[in-house]
Amino acid sequence: MPFTIAIDGPAASGKGTIARALAQEFGFPHLDTGLLYRAVGAIGGDPTTAARGLDPEDLLRPGLRSAEAGQAASRVAAIPEVRAALIDFQRRFSRQEPGAILDGRDIGTVICPGAEVKLYVIAADETRAARRAAELGADPAVMLAELRERDARDAARDTAPLRAAPDAVILDTTAMSIDEAVAAAAALVRKRLERL
Ligand code: DC
Repeated sequence: MPFTIAIDGPAASGKGTIARALAQEFGFPHLDTGLLYRAVGAIGGDPTTAARGLDPEDLLRPGLRSAEAGQAASRVAAIPEVRAALIDFQRRFSRQEPGAILDGRDIGTVICPGAEVKLYVIAADETRAARRAAELGADPAVMLAELRERDARDAARDTAPLRAAPDAVILDTTAMSIDEAVAAAAALVRKRLERL
């Protein structure tokens, strides 16, 4: 049985950083599922057609990490047909042996409800905005407005909204360094692996 780690949370909460560090530590492949929606938004045209024809190469498009690509991703992510078209790819990825790590918004709730580890990573809005501003070289106030707009849309949509699974462990990284957040997440994974 593959060991699946599901990491969800709002934009710039630290989930991507934690997911990449866990992938290194445990040697599991990692899928940043936000990239799927960013690619669909960047391809343009009819989003459902873009999602159905998505190619792994599309995830390498330049500019996908920008704030604009994030907004476009959040908009196409509210379309149920777009989400449906991306489910199989994500579930196949999650079933690799010996395990896999996926981060996104609906991994613990919809994509991998049976995941062995579920983390829901949060941080104060201002902290997230400051982190994203430093990462993209942008204005923190602009980032704050951008994150709030995106989170509100992601949480309000009908299909697979941004939400913690009832059995997810909430990790608040507001007052944590990257090393502390990664250590807390890794401890949780180790505890779960020992109980198998
Ligand atoms: O994780 P990210 O910031 O790269 O995600 C970009 C957008 O994609 C996010 O605002 C909402 C959408 N998304 C989603 O709806 N479901 C996911 N599993 C991942 C991302």
